Amino acid sequence: MTVRIAPSILSADFSRLDREIAEVEAGGADLIHLDIMDGHFVPNLTFGPPVVTWLAPRCTKPLDAHLMVSDPDPLLAPLATAGVARVAVHVEACVHLQRTLAAIRDAGMAPGVALNPATPLAFALEAVPWIDFVLVMSVNPGFGGQSFIPESLDRIRRLRAVVPADELDITVDGGVTPATAPAIVAAGATTLVAGNAILGTPDRAAAIAALRRSVRKGERV
Ligand code: DX5
Ligand code: ZN
Repeated sequence: MTVRIAPSILSADFSRLDREIAEVEAGGADLIHLDIMDGHFVPNLTFGPPVVTWLAPRCTKPLDAHLMVSDPDPLLAPLATAGVARVAVHVEACVHLQRTLAAIRDAGMAPGVALNPATPLAFALEAVPWIDFVLVMSVNPGFGGQSFIPESLDRIRRLRAVVPADELDITVDGGVTPATAPAIVAAGATTLVAGNAILGTPDRAAAIAALRRSVRKGERV
């Protein structure tokens, strides 16, 4: 199975987001990962639906929204209108998770659940009937450029052991680099989010190619 690469624009130069996105798209990105933070669920603030609405017409790849917010429900309709393809909500933030996931699907987007590094996998497994993907956080959410938490590998492995790749995408987010990616993919991830490893470097096409090469090597092992 081909692994998809989703550059996170959290590490981009926000004064030139449209050009940053154009560079990663030309460099081989499969999805554009949008980290939406409210300064409450996580100790950082980024952007919301108005910025996504401006960016969406300038993007050619599917938009992948990661909602690190305490109350995701009011964001769903504007994100759908903007043209977002898939949305991950944190299970830790959703009191009525099934209702939120159904609302994402009803709005025409692909629903996913995100799990913080210490959140039991069972929260995602219960939601499998209503989701297309699980976003396994391999750092504590809120900031780019953190180190991969090694215990995440076992979590990816255990999740993949229960649900096969043709039924569920496992997206891994946090500390993904050419050094960590091979083991992440070997554990069962099918999509890799990378912020600093791609947008923190001057040559985005080379960074995406390096990630892909690392994964291909890992697959041979
Ligand atoms: C962290 C975000 C990530 C972040 C990853 O809260 O969810 O998407 O941008 O950044 P890196 O790849 O630099 O760890
Ligand atoms: Zn993210």
